[in-house]
Amino acid sequence: MREYNFTGGMPDPGSFPIEGLIEAAGRALRAAGGDTLVHYPGDLGNITLREVAAMRFQASQGTEISPDDIAITNGSMQALELVFRAYVEPGDIVLTEELSYMGTLGLLRHSKANIVGVPNDEHGMNTDALEEILRDLAAKGQRPKLINTVPINHNPTGMNMTAERKRRFIELAEEYDVVILEDECYGDIYFEGDPAPSLYSQAPSGRVIYVATFSKTIGPGVRMGYLSVPQPVMGRIMANRHDGGPSALASLILAEFLRHHMWDHIRKTNGIVREKLATLLAALDENLGDMISCIPPTGGLFAWTTVPEDTDMGRLMAGLDERQVRCTRGQAFHVDQKDIPNVRFSFAYPSLQDIRDGVEVFADCVRAAQPSEAAVA
Ligand SMILES: Cc1ncc(COP(=O)(O)O)c(C=O)c1O
Repeated sequence: MREYNFTGGMPDPGSFPIEGLIEAAGRALRAAGGDTLVHYPGDLGNITLREVAAMRFQASQGTEISPDDIAITNGSMQALELVFRAYVEPGDIVLTEELSYMGTLGLLRHSKANIVGVPNDEHGMNTDALEEILRDLAAKGQRPKLINTVPINHNPTGMNMTAERKRRFIELAEEYDVVILEDECYGDIYFEGDPAPSLYSQAPSGRVIYVATFSKTIGPGVRMGYLSVPQPVMGRIMANRHDGGPSALASLILAEFLRHHMWDHIRKTNGIVREKLATLLAALDENLGDMISCIPPTGGLFAWTTVPEDTDMGRLMAGLDERQVRCTRGQAFHVDQKDIPNVRFSFAYPSLQDIRDGVEVFADCVRAAQPSEAAVA
């Protein structure tokens, strides 16, 4: 049976730059010579890729960032893990959007953090709710260790935090003296408008730890991400790193490719992903019309859909599983694992035809999971 894969945050497989990387590999290895590659890369990782990450930040944010304030990691997941290792002891409070990336929630649960959800809406984390939570905690003499946020093209909702909210967010973090973990995993993938400048570029030094990745524009298989923060915070985080640093081989090849092709590649892949999103939205509309709602994302890889409130979510997911339509149940992203009537579609990976056909099957399953259908069955 055909499988329709709308699960993980993978880019379009056809746009993986195989030829570009092959050419970059030859140039990079000849230029580096063996001596670079017989050494351990060290905690911050290869300087050439750090310089490219700094260039990317400067080009997209208009703010300079020193390569010495950047550490390359094994995907951004390792960056998150290192930050939590440095900051979170069992029982510590960590705030995060009520709907959050399940990988981050998994790491926090593993650290035995006391995870507190802050409601998020179409403008990102709700800063009024954040203020109330911070005030209540302060009244009890408690202070969160971190506030985790994905302010741009949020996973799973696709939403963006407005510039005004970002300003307020920083004010609150300053007032209550809490460190922000800004996960800008999807920062380069947008189809319309410009996202508001990062929290990192606006906040006082050391208030924000910035995390980004090359997984979403090149591919998660490359396992290259990074975090950025000046000393002494960087030292505190790196004190927990014991892996000898990230692969210099992969770093050099990627850096050589990105140095010449980063923005062309991103422009090209964003065009492809935008078409896939349009196809998904059209298919949802055609097959389910008013039965389903989705605020169209302006970037990123995810469409967050809301099915009718009384949908039997267990039945829906079992139906999808049986017919090999792989989507992610909303519950997986809820801090308290609440069973909400939402399904996340990741739309960059499947082909246009799989999107059209997969949504048709999805629509059958949604209809079969309505209470009226259960009564008939
Ligand atoms: C918000 C967010 N952060 C981090 C990651 C981890 O990505 P990687 O480790 O591939 O960079 C993901 C992956 O889906 C994500 O959605």
